[in-house]
Amino acid sequence: MSNPSYDWLNKLPKVELHLHLEGTLEPELMFNLAKRNNISLPYENINDVKKAYEFNHLQDFLDIYYQGAEVFQSEQDFYDLTWAYLIKCQQQNVQHVEPFFDPQTHTLRGIAFETVINGISHALEDGEKKLGISYQLIMCFLRHLSESDAIETLRSAEKFIDKIHGVGLDSSEKGNPPEKFSNVFSEASKKGFKLVAHAGEEGPASYIWSSLDVLKVNRIDHGIRAMDDPKLLSRLIDSQIPLTVCPLSNTKLRVFDDMSQHTILEMLDLGLCVTVNSDDPSYFGGYMTENFISLYDNLSLTKVQAIKLIENSIEASFAEKKRKKSLYNLLNEFVTS
Ligand code: HPA
Ligand code: ZN
Repeated sequence: MSNPSYDWLNKLPKVELHLHLEGTLEPELMFNLAKRNNISLPYENINDVKKAYEFNHLQDFLDIYYQGAEVFQSEQDFYDLTWAYLIKCQQQNVQHVEPFFDPQTHTLRGIAFETVINGISHALEDGEKKLGISYQLIMCFLRHLSESDAIETLRSAEKFIDKIHGVGLDSSEKGNPPEKFSNVFSEASKKGFKLVAHAGEEGPASYIWSSLDVLKVNRIDHGIRAMDDPKLLSRLIDSQIPLTVCPLSNTKLRVFDDMSQHTILEMLDLGLCVTVNSDDPSYFGGYMTENFISLYDNLSLTKVQAIKLIENSIEASFAEKKRKKSLYNLLNEFVTS
């Protein structure tokens, strides 16, 4: 990022709506936590880790990502993970975040739900107080597991309803359609949670339709396969349902072979409410600024387009009205500076 022509991309006030906290685990922290918790890793050093991060599709990544998550044991571990991400946000002028966490990845290993949520939410509270980064936290259900497991997870979350703002759906997309989770999403909606779901990353456009019509989500995570379906595009443009697109993730997982082929700017030109996000930055080679830099380098992203992408993120966020206004003010200050 030493290239001065990237400075404005780092200074741009940003909002992140698609970020898995477990996907921010940097190799250094992985080694530190493994040592702290006496866990043996299948890697000798950081170079080994980097070598393992060569993925051909989503499942290759998920296998390594779930293995990495085994280093988290205590509330302090979840705090440290979340805090490290927030420091990165501060460095990149990310002002508002809506991170995901995957409780089932941890409860299945015998870690208490309470340990996970307390560590994460203490760090988010500190981030708001000390760094001014506002947040809404989203709990994801793992779609390769059953709906009854998801319902049990929702029940565990009820005690912490003041700390969790939304529910989402992630993990292996193909073969696990949104409609598998219709009951748990309906229950979550009744309890006042905001709803999002990964759809149309590797899975087909039909999964975007069913996320909208069956799960009744407020946002679609990824959603790039919408480009295959003109009727769906009209629906998404008319409704302005946001799509949280993750450029570096898409090239790392071979959804696009190369960033020059990414359709995000075409989607923006069509009038879709697309946003830029980092997904699992430690695994995919970059946080928010690096995602913007990649669009600038490979797709000649302009300042006008970058500002529109941020406006979309502010609009798409679950931030309260007053906070949205202050985010727009920060963006205006950037525009006029
Ligand atoms: N897709 C699905 N599940 C995930 C992802 C993703 O990109 N990252 C973490 N879990
Ligand atoms: Zn994701």
